[in-house]
Amino acid sequence: MNLISKTMVATLGVALAATQLSAVSIVPQPSVMREDRSLVQLPSGRLSVYSGDPSLKHLVSVWADFLEKPYAPGTEKLSTGFTRVVSATVLPEVKSTGNESKADVRLYLDPSLAEEEYTLDVTPDGVVINGGSGKGVWWGLQTLTQILVQAASSAEPGEPLRTSGLYIQDKPHFSYRGAMLDCCRHFFTVDEVKKFIDILALHKLNTLHWHLTDDQGWRIEIEKYPLLTQVGAVRKETKVGHYNDAAAGYDGTPYGEGDFYTARDVKEIIAYASDRQITVIPEIEMPGHAVAALTSYPWLGCTGGPYEVRTTWGISDDVFCIGKESTFGFLETVLDEVCSLFPSEYIHIGGDECPAVRWKDCPDCQRRMKEEGLDDERQLQGYLLHRIEQYLNSKGRKIIGWDEILEGGVTPTATVMSWRGPQGGINAAKQGNDVVMTPNNYFYLDYYQTADPEANGEPLGIGGYVSLEKSYSFDPYDQLDDSTRKHIKGVQANTWTEYISSFDHLQHMDLPRFAALSEVAWSEERTAYDQFLARVTASMKPAYEYFGFIYAPYVFEGIE
Ligand code: ACM
Ligand code: ZN
Repeated sequence: MNLISKTMVATLGVALAATQLSAVSIVPQPSVMREDRSLVQLPSGRLSVYSGDPSLKHLVSVWADFLEKPYAPGTEKLSTGFTRVVSATVLPEVKSTGNESKADVRLYLDPSLAEEEYTLDVTPDGVVINGGSGKGVWWGLQTLTQILVQAASSAEPGEPLRTSGLYIQDKPHFSYRGAMLDCCRHFFTVDEVKKFIDILALHKLNTLHWHLTDDQGWRIEIEKYPLLTQVGAVRKETKVGHYNDAAAGYDGTPYGEGDFYTARDVKEIIAYASDRQITVIPEIEMPGHAVAALTSYPWLGCTGGPYEVRTTWGISDDVFCIGKESTFGFLETVLDEVCSLFPSEYIHIGGDECPAVRWKDCPDCQRRMKEEGLDDERQLQGYLLHRIEQYLNSKGRKIIGWDEILEGGVTPTATVMSWRGPQGGINAAKQGNDVVMTPNNYFYLDYYQTADPEANGEPLGIGGYVSLEKSYSFDPYDQLDDSTRKHIKGVQANTWTEYISSFDHLQHMDLPRFAALSEVAWSEERTAYDQFLARVTASMKPAYEYFGFIYAPYVFEGIE
């Protein structure tokens, strides 16, 4: 399958550059942006950066690392069918300097700005970024990255970079701007997760929701329960084709041996994300999506097993037993270790897609229901979630869970992640719960991105159709008034990886749709779609090419 057949894109801008400055495009659209079209030149070889506060020095080295480490072709083998397009653009080397007056870029903290807010001035005297905190300065540097990529992509090698005079004042609309990465169905290495974090940073996304446990693989090492990763990380084979395509069969190849994150890996990823102003929220699924855990420790289930790490996709009837106290001992120990590694306020406890059939036949679960006065099995699920919420609250954490947690009688303090469309989130906000909107019909990026995936040569997806335009059209405040809007904390895209076995394929699914996510999450005022697409084409596309990120080409070829 030749999925993306693109030639090197490098030379187009050169002829225009010397005489004509094109308008600067930024994604997500800044709150205020004034461009005066005066010519500003920046050095193409070495950009000196002055930190007006000692706390910003580290940020400069992280940014320099980000710019100097494009993922060039030839250094990585691409999985079949994916072509990386890399431009010939070369960004200047970034160097810290103590000489304020001579610096090309000057960074300052300004306590009058909000935490993630920044201003950015581009004048003949250089670039000045003020941030409400290191976060604001960091997002300002991401905007500068886009300006530099655009200037460099139309400059002759060795010539100064030309851009126009600019004033930007910018801050995010939503405090939660996330992407979920499913590392259970397919595993991604520490380096790949770091690259994913780089991609988030470029889009001013500030949250990585890390899906670490599921039926098909448990991917975080837990010291007290070593079988979770010795047994639970491995499935004996994997379904080929769609889960309901019986004729396609199974691949006969064990998957996942050694594919898990150690405590050291987790710390490395959290530190890498933190350096890029990104919070990592772990997800430990309960009470469903637990077959890998049950296979490792069969006493966690109602029947006692035996169980087998699932080799196909979908939903399992085998889930954690809520009747037995030993299940709570296990979950609390796992959460103790998770909390000792992850500093995030939120811990995601899953809660989705949990059948009740095993609980109906389990004497322990039925006894629990009687003792606790629970009317039905959904309340039994609510019992588990409330106990776990209390436990996590006692450790200073808050829970977030998929919208099914509303069904068991959710507490007012839980945050709801609305995935089955926006309605669960709308209901939750109206009843006073905080919400993160991640509706499948707008932000499930394992869905196809064109109307005719087969004709357009899209790789196998789970189904559905979420075009860039559809993602961009999402209104997080739909049906909500001023009194309930405050509960919408933000938006997130989810990339489930049942059908995504390589990091190349993952990027193909996420880019450019992350650009739409980014703007829905960040920009209070959105533009017309055509204008947005023009900005993505002028700004994000060359950035993807500069960094060597793989993106789906369809919208740039007029196909949706
Ligand atoms: C989900 O997609 N099951 C949250
Ligand atoms: Zn049970």
